[in-house]
Amino acid sequence: MMEFTGHHIVITGASSGIGEATAEHVAALGARVTLLARRADRLEALAARLGAPAQWQAVDVADEDALGAALDAAVAQAGPIDGLFLNAGTGGTFAPAEAYPPDAFARVLAVNLLAPFHAVARVLPVMKARRRGAILVTGSLASERGMANNVAYVASKHAVLGLARAIALEAAPFGVRCNCVVPGFIETEMLSGLPHDALQQLAAKVPQGRTGSAQELAAVAAFLLSDAASHVTGQSIAVDGGLLGTLTV
Ligand SMILES: NC(=O)c1ccc[n+]([C@@H]2O[C@H](COP(=O)([O-])OP(=O)(O)OC[C@H]3O[C@@H](n4cnc5c(N)ncnc54)[C@H](OP(=O)(O)O)[C@@H]3O)[C@@H](O)[C@H]2O)c1
Repeated sequence: MMEFTGHHIVITGASSGIGEATAEHVAALGARVTLLARRADRLEALAARLGAPAQWQAVDVADEDALGAALDAAVAQAGPIDGLFLNAGTGGTFAPAEAYPPDAFARVLAVNLLAPFHAVARVLPVMKARRRGAILVTGSLASERGMANNVAYVASKHAVLGLARAIALEAAPFGVRCNCVVPGFIETEMLSGLPHDALQQLAAKVPQGRTGSAQELAAVAAFLLSDAASHVTGQSIAVDGGLLGTLTV
């Protein structure tokens, strides 16, 4: 059975969308939650709403020192980390590779790949020593497929899946797990900029004929962060209504 009583779960990108929904899900099952993202007002409101022990810190995950300090403070305040959900992500811009601004490319890599790497490096030693812990990264359909004019995002999401698989192998002998959850088209702020017609076109590509909700993603993320997934590691699990099972994506 999935439950989180006494577990400390740290979530990056917790101020909206998938991170917010996962915080709500695990808090409802008894977790102590640490919420990390940049928008302090959103984090403060979520922490108040959770009605469970919750703390938050406003941090740009691309700032290695600030991220490390936030993780250390999370441990100081709520104890060792049982589950680390590295979910903060940015889409970058759309441009052909030859015109993709190098600084935008570096920024996407810093948020989507380097931040998870630095977070894992900070947290894994204690998880290994405790012989306990679950790490989860958020990938994308772009972890598994190419996408034109989106080189930075695709490269970063392929790489973060690779990071999860490599960490899973290093951590497995120590009783620590690492997995990747792959959202399909999930209705969050990341998709909310799209016109209604474009959203409908995306939904039409999904075998289930619809987009997914942040809550549907959160249910799977919570499972992978929980002890119910104790024999699941090194996996990439899509929550996509069947998209990756088709020939057309
Ligand atoms: N929705 C989809 O269809 C979809 C599909 C594939 C993959 N994903 C992935 O899912 C993850 C969550 O996205 P979402 O769909 O839930 O969209 P979202 O609502 O826009 O959430 C993105 C989260 O990342 C945080 N974030 C972004 N840059 C950050 C930074 N530099 N430092 C700290 N936090 C940062 C944002 O918080 P602040 O702005 O407050 O910092 C926000 O909480 C991302 O990794 C995204 O790539 C989503």
